[in-house]
Amino acid sequence: HGTSQINEQGHLVIGGVNTVELANQYGTPLFVYDVALIRERAWQFQQAFKKENVPYQVAYASKAFSCMAMFQLADELGLSLDVVSGGELFTAIQADFPMERVHFHGNNKSLAELEMAVEAQIGCVVVDNFYELAELSRICKEKNYKMNILLRITPGVEAHTHDYISTGQEDSKFGFDLVSGQVHEAVQTAYEDEWLKLLGVHSHIGSQIFETTGFVMAVEKMFELVIEWKERFGFVPTVLNLGGGFGIRYIEGDTPLPAGEYVTKMIEVVKQKAVEANLTMPEIWIEPGRSLVGDAGTTLYSIGSKKHIPNVRDYLAVDGGMSDNLRPALYQAEYEGVLANRANEEATETFSIAGKCCESGDMLIWDLPLPKANHEDILAVFCTGAYGYAMANNYNRIPRPAVVFVEDGEALEVIRRERFEDLVRLDLPLVKKVAK
Ligand code: LLP
Repeated sequence: HGTSQINEQGHLVIGGVNTVELANQYGTPLFVYDVALIRERAWQFQQAFKKENVPYQVAYASKAFSCMAMFQLADELGLSLDVVSGGELFTAIQADFPMERVHFHGNNKSLAELEMAVEAQIGCVVVDNFYELAELSRICKEKNYKMNILLRITPGVEAHTHDYISTGQEDSKFGFDLVSGQVHEAVQTAYEDEWLKLLGVHSHIGSQIFETTGFVMAVEKMFELVIEWKERFGFVPTVLNLGGGFGIRYIEGDTPLPAGEYVTKMIEVVKQKAVEANLTMPEIWIEPGRSLVGDAGTTLYSIGSKKHIPNVRDYLAVDGGMSDNLRPALYQAEYEGVLANRANEEATETFSIAGKCCESGDMLIWDLPLPKANHEDILAVFCTGAYGYAMANNYNRIPRPAVVFVEDGEALEVIRRERFEDLVRLDLPLVKKVAK
């Protein structure tokens, strides 16, 4: 997995750093990010655009994993940043991320969030609905700032992980739908608004997608619209944002394409369609989250209790679980793992990895082949970089883990482990009765 290796002691090494030492130094559970792999993924996307010589932006969908250090890395890599909340925008501001490369998403941005975006003069707001369109224009006028916008459309292409189906009617909380014609009204309104600069349209068809078919269908849909808008309103988009959703390999059976191949295919179709419609080639924007950080992340856990049910199953419990990785409980997501301190030993047993939360559904991996594991061993679970820490929570008042970046043999702590004090930081005591 990634740039991981096994050293002569049989320890798992990531980014040139011994994970057993990381576990000892920072404690467990611990998220370890292989920075070189994030660089490589970003490079693959960008290179695919550069090769075809088309104008582009690759925006990191920061919901996958956000913290100040990650935003600083994204900046260093020349990525733009997709934020979906005031909290993510605030983190970007704190990280000194260049605001002109920030894109703001969301189906229910609050007025305070829209004001924050206008005040920060971010690069683009992806407008989702009529309410937002009107309010954003009002806020821009009030603050005397013209904002770049994209309109989010529901292209009628639904991607269900590897599968996709074309839906005649859209039923989604996101964006302007095509069937009712609302999207045309939105385009006309936005195009004529003096406080909004309509750059183009956005579509996001889903997540953890393995094929290019859905993206191709979305592009085709977009061009049908673009041709219509040119004729009806004289509006020609300069930006097409095709969203994120590029799949990654969690387990051996997953079959994503190499990152750049999604892009190459998109470019091919956009180019062809632009020529057919006699339009100048628009900029293509994408917003990958998972595929930039997913396989760069590994979680280290300490193994605690064991439970053997004769002829049924062996459970191994770790010191985290659905509090740091909700995906198995929420989506039946599958992961692979090894013993980080005995990574060279052959798997002779099968263990099911349980978390420590008070729920039977808190299982991280079913039937994982491992060497004979014991308490004090360290389990490394791979591909936890996206939507792991991001969806971590304090269920059962379990403190959230620490996060370290590793590269070239060096480790850097980027998020501190929560302490018990942090858990009660916002709690207020019952008002004491005055003693008589
Ligand atoms: N753009 C938009 C508008 C999105 O809604 C999303 C993800 C992305 C980009 C990034 O998608 P990605 O490249 O990461 O697939 N919590 C779920 C995933 C939710 C994705 C939500 N939107 C999970 O753990 O699988």
